[in-house]
This record gives sequence, structure tokens and C-alpha cells, in this order.
Amino acid sequence: MRAMVIRPQDDALELCDVPSPSPGQGELLVAVEASGVNRADLLQRRGAYAQVAFPQEGPRFAGMEAAGTVVATGPGATRFAPGDRVMGLCAGGFADRVVLDERLAMPVPAELDMVAAGALPLGLMTEYDALADAGRLRPGERVLITAGSSGVGLIGVQVARALGAGRVAATVRSAAGRDAVLRHGADEAVVTGDPWPEADVVIDHVGAPALASALAALALGGRLVSVGRLGGRSAELDLNELARKRLLLAGVTFRTRTREECAAIAAGAVRDLGEAVRAGTVRPAVARTFPLAEAQAAQDLLRDARPPGKLVVTPG
Ligand SMILES: NC(=O)c1ccc[n+]([C@@H]2O[C@H](COP(=O)([O-])OP(=O)(O)OC[C@H]3O[C@@H](n4cnc5c(N)ncnc54)[C@H](OP(=O)(O)O)[C@@H]3O)[C@@H](O)[C@H]2O)c1
Repeated sequence: MRAMVIRPQDDALELCDVPSPSPGQGELLVAVEASGVNRADLLQRRGAYAQVAFPQEGPRFAGMEAAGTVVATGPGATRFAPGDRVMGLCAGGFADRVVLDERLAMPVPAELDMVAAGALPLGLMTEYDALADAGRLRPGERVLITAGSSGVGLIGVQVARALGAGRVAATVRSAAGRDAVLRHGADEAVVTGDPWPEADVVIDHVGAPALASALAALALGGRLVSVGRLGGRSAELDLNELARKRLLLAGVTFRTRTREECAAIAAGAVRDLGEAVRAGTVRPAVARTFPLAEAQAAQDLLRDARPPGKLVVTPG
């Protein structure tokens, strides 16, 4: 089968012919139909994104999420059967076939097309974990999402809605971003320079340049969850503001999570968001698809201005 391997000598992606993996204990062999492109792919290429849940020895396979059809099950795998449509986090999604741990596999409902499904797992699990767990979102509370037009930001807007947020605002830098977040269900688009509305939970993808505004926007007892650092990682923190408002500051990542922790997040997302995924109220916007051979071009486009939404690699 074909798979995109990260070349050790220059960190470029190379399409290689490799043996098809066989599913081990509790694993599924999946014929990949789509695999989303993520910012973390760029770090992974530079060797700066090791994941506890997916230790890679030997060749480094690219692609952190995938959707496809189960073609075989390993010993002890009982939740899915050949022919089932599944999606999930993985190592090596940019390939014809990939192995998924069945505990991380989520069913793809008939209403969700496979290209969108391939772009959903990482964003869905990230934003669910950030809002429901780290952000302790309660129904009716106000949410503010920074970099709302990023791939995960748009999913975050939808997830916040589906979890019962009372009001969802999203920061954007452009008219296209504003249109995208409003289309995805935000009540308000906060364009650069606008005052930020008060919020109970801020889900932050921007990092350093957003810290002061996020702290100022949070209500008493508010929660700030650091998900991404698109604009930088170091900033001054006014501890007086933190104490006075009795704020909670949390960070999330998949890098240090075990398989079991990832599985618990996947199970929670299926339980609390499965119906919204089926109904289409949580559904990633796909900006563009790329054939497998052009996976590196897809990753490179992440650095450039592009329409809001996810980029997806489809082996075809
Ligand atoms: N913690 C986790 O588990 C986790 C999981 C997934 C992603 N992340 C993080 O979340 C962030 C977004 O990831 P993604 O895959 O959704 O990325 P992405 O789709 O490439 O999003 C980037 C977009 O964000 C907007 N943006 C706003 N402020 C920005 C800034 N200061 N610098 C660059 N872009 C800015 C830009 O859109 P406009 O031009 O329209 O403004 C840009 O196109 C990344 O930092 C990523 O590492 C974290």
C-alpha cells in the first residue's frame, strides 16, 4: 500500500510503498477515505510533536486522523465489524490503510460524508475536551473562541452550541473569517479591534497576543483554556486579575495523553455530541481536498492564507 513517510534526512514527506499493517489486539484495519491536515503535522515533520499515545519507532508515518471503512479486525476487537464506517485519531492517516485502536474509533453516521469525517476527530475531541472537561462548560454559559476561523475553532463554535452554550462569540481577523464563524453558528464575530464580550469560558487558539483580552473578557469564576498558540507562547500574566475574578487557567494537548485518556475523550464526544454529528450541527467545513501524493502541499498551505476550514487528504 502507499503511505506518506517523513524522510529523516530533510523532514519532507515521501510517498512510499510499504507493507499493509495488520491489526493487533483490539485494533481495526481501515481502508482510508480521508485524513485531515492539522497544524501539529508541521511540528511532527520537524520532530517536535511526539505523542505518548502513538509512540513511533522506525519510519515516521504522517497523518494524525482518518476516516474510512473497516476491512479487518484484530483479536479482541469487538466494537466494530468489517464494513463499518469509522473515524479516529491514528498514526499514519496519509495512507491507503491505517490501523485504529478501536477504543479511539468513533462511528461515522450515514449522514456524514467521509471527506468531512476524515477532518473531524482531532477537532471534535480537542474542542470537546477543552469545553466540557477543562472548561467545565455548563448549559447557558457564554463562550468566546479565539481564532474562530481556524479549523479547530470552527468546530469549537459548533461544539459549544451543541453542548448548550447560551451565547457563542468568536474572534476573527477578516471578513471571510467573520462570515465563516457566523455560518457555523456563532452569535457574534469579534473582528480585530472590536471590544471582546464578557464570557464564562474562553477557548484560546491564539496564545500570547490574546491573553490580556481573554482575562479582561472573563466573568467572575471564568475559565481560560489554552488550546493553541498561533500567535506566540509567552506573555505577561496579571495574577491580580486571575485572583480577583477567581479564574481558572487550564491547558490541553494530546501530546502527553495516554491511549486510555484519549479513549475516554472519544467516548465522551460520542456520548455528548454523537447526535449533533448525525444531525449535521457539528460538521467540519472542508476548504480543499488533496490527493495522497500532494499531502505535503496540503501541509504547506496551512502556513498560507486560505479559505477558512479544514484541508483533507484523500487517497482515492
Ligand atoms: N491542544 C490541542 O489538542 C490542539 C489540537 C488541535 C489544534 N491545536 C492548535 O490549535 C490551533 C489551530 O489549529 P488548526 O489546525 O485549526 O489551524 P488552522 O486551521 O491552520 O488555523 C489557522 C487559522 O487561524 C487564524 N488565526 C488567527 N490568529 C492567528 C495568528 N495569530 N496566527 C496564525 N493564524 C491565526 C487564521 O485564520 P484567518 O486568517 O481567517 O484569521 C489562520 O488561517 C493551532 O495552534 C494548533 O496547534 C491544538
